[in-house]
Amino acid sequence: MEIIADIASLRARLKYETSVAFVPTMGNLHAGHVSLIRIAQQHARCTVVSIFVNRLQFAPHEDFDRYPRTRSNDCRLLEESSVDVVFMPDEQTLYPVSQEFQLLLPVMAETLEGVYRPGFFRGVATVVLKLLNIVQPHVAVFGEKDYQQLQIVRRMADQLNLPVQIIAGETIRAGDGLALSSRNHYLDAIQRQEAVELARHLRQIRDSIASGERDFPLLEQLAIEKLSQRGWMVDYIAVRQQDTLLPASADDSRLAILGAARLGQIRLIDNFLLMLQ
Ligand code: PAF
Repeated sequence: MEIIADIASLRARLKYETSVAFVPTMGNLHAGHVSLIRIAQQHARCTVVSIFVNRLQFAPHEDFDRYPRTRSNDCRLLEESSVDVVFMPDEQTLYPVSQEFQLLLPVMAETLEGVYRPGFFRGVATVVLKLLNIVQPHVAVFGEKDYQQLQIVRRMADQLNLPVQIIAGETIRAGDGLALSSRNHYLDAIQRQEAVELARHLRQIRDSIASGERDFPLLEQLAIEKLSQRGWMVDYIAVRQQDTLLPASADDSRLAILGAARLGQIRLIDNFLLMLQ
């Protein structure tokens, strides 16, 4: 495995590769990332993983400074996972000058996470576009855990004619159902026990819809009330169309049930997808 920090060396290393699959990350890697790497490896001869904590996607009050940076553990895991190349640029490499050009995002970026993290998707899309331009992969893999991010990246690749296939990796969950996330490390023991409730309530909504319930606002409201009673600060619980992320109506058959809520200072997001016959 090669660890490369600068763009010229990365391009030289990849120049003669016939197929490249790419997994962008912010590090603090866990089994969820490994599952994305496994998918990447099925699609190309050479797998590149990037580790870069992207300042542009954090608001000033968010956790950029304390975001866990676990470089040596990450490299060990990547080596064990038979990754070919790790791209680990510093800020000066990715943003040598202030990033004046940024993307104008679709309306889809203004809902859900976009309401609570304004600017987040612009920062994500900008860095993802830069990374795709630098690595020039044939395939890039993104987790379904960040479902809205995945849909925005898909649209970006599509509408900007990027020569890359975007592939989704299923959310990987702990034994109790909590979606794996780097931010789970912030949870103390009591919060960790409680954290699974977000997934449990989203799954309950999915199961109710699968059994025929179609009053989506009622299901959303009930989950918000129950989570709030348990001490959560709920940002949203929403039943949406999978492809547009617009509010779903009773005759939609491809649904995403998404939620974001805070336990103390820690904000968790999760989702379940449902395909009706
Ligand atoms: O999902 C993430 O880890 C980040 O948003 C990404 C895609 C690596 C961009 O910084």
